[in-house]
Amino acid sequence: MTIQLTESPIPRTGLDPLEPGFQLDPYPYYHWLLRNDPVHLGAEDTWYVTRYADVRLVMSDHKFGCASVRDWWEEMIGPGALKQIMRDTMFFEDDPKHARLRGLITPVFAPKRMKALQPKIDEVVDELLAPLFRRGEMEMVNEFAAPLALTFVCELLGIPREGYEGVRTWSLDIGPTLDLIPNDEEIRKGNIAMGAFADYLQGLIESRGSHRGPDLISVMLDAREESLAKGEPPVTMNEMVSTIISVVFAGHDTVTNQITNTMLALIRNPDQLDLLKRDPSLVSGCVEEGLRYDSAVQSNSRRLMVDVELGGKLLRKGDFVVALMGAANRDPAKFDDPDRFDITRTGTQVMSFGAGMRFCLGAILARLELRTALDRLVRMENVRLEIADSDISYQRSSMFRSLVELPVSFTPTGG
Ligand code: HEM
Repeated sequence: MTIQLTESPIPRTGLDPLEPGFQLDPYPYYHWLLRNDPVHLGAEDTWYVTRYADVRLVMSDHKFGCASVRDWWEEMIGPGALKQIMRDTMFFEDDPKHARLRGLITPVFAPKRMKALQPKIDEVVDELLAPLFRRGEMEMVNEFAAPLALTFVCELLGIPREGYEGVRTWSLDIGPTLDLIPNDEEIRKGNIAMGAFADYLQGLIESRGSHRGPDLISVMLDAREESLAKGEPPVTMNEMVSTIISVVFAGHDTVTNQITNTMLALIRNPDQLDLLKRDPSLVSGCVEEGLRYDSAVQSNSRRLMVDVELGGKLLRKGDFVVALMGAANRDPAKFDDPDRFDITRTGTQVMSFGAGMRFCLGAILARLELRTALDRLVRMENVRLEIADSDISYQRSSMFRSLVELPVSFTPTGG
């Protein structure tokens, strides 16, 4: 239940998403902004946009660019492997380079190929859950959701099982440098991890030879050879490495957090949990409602290429603009009774996967993983949180809503 505030929760210096109150529960802040200041000038002279229609515009209009976000990030991060590798990520590119890099990997995410993964998803979910169901307790973030998400990101990329552990460790060290304003120690660790991750991937790419499959590494190598044959400039090694690392970040923590955020919503709304137990066909509705109600990705940043008027305010070329998708998903102009978690809602067009030319390439895979995970998880009988509500906490992040842990207990099954 989200509290509707009449007093402003926003300090006079403007919204700061890293403030502890916002980190714990951003929704009262979103409602206040939606009602009182939907295009808000927050801390550090950054604009925060909350209305569904405005968020869609910021995320999909070319006037709101990404390449100049990189200039700011590179200055903050300084020289080293992070800067070297991420100079080619599609996340920090605008067209035409964004379209070229996106086009290169789009075939890997073809709906048919994603749907063919369903039996493997069933298998991995059941394998991970069998020992946990027998035990009658689990810490859902690290024992279930993270290994599931990591498996399918690696599967898609063509990273073999023996590489999983390294991918997880390097990602954990690189993560803080891509999200928050990192301190010197985080940048140091991030550079070491990025160097090691890039070396590992370069070796993997070079050793792939003619053993090609439908994975992302093979698809990029095929495209490289095709370009060389046509005399066109081929995708470079740095572009391949940075694309792989970008997909790891896009598809790993996001799915992990979305599974656990949705399970927490179900446990806190036992009527909806019972409904889903009684009628498993509601699982797709539950996935969409979980994405809307508590999205793993709460925001994305852009920088203006030209002056723009939005919500009666003048935003200047070079200004930072944060699209608060978590707020758009609770916009009462778009969703009836937006703070109610209701898995029977229909026609929910969530903003959680973004919009337009950058719409999430992994949305089909994410939905398949979520559907299968929730279908099995709701079979737990007498599920209880093994953490007091007041102890539930989130990783400090400017973009993600990421539970630190979600310990639960339930009646053991499966002998
Ligand atoms: C619940 C899970 C997920 C959520 C909430 C999510 C959310 C998003 C969002 C909001 C964007 C747009 C970013 C922007 O506009 O700047 C995005 C882009 C992207 N996502 Fe996801 N994502 C999820 C899962 C995945 C998975 C599983 C993969 C791949 C394995 C993936 C791959 C990508 C890629 C490659 C892009 C970049 C598209 C581009 O720049 O053109 N995502 N995602």
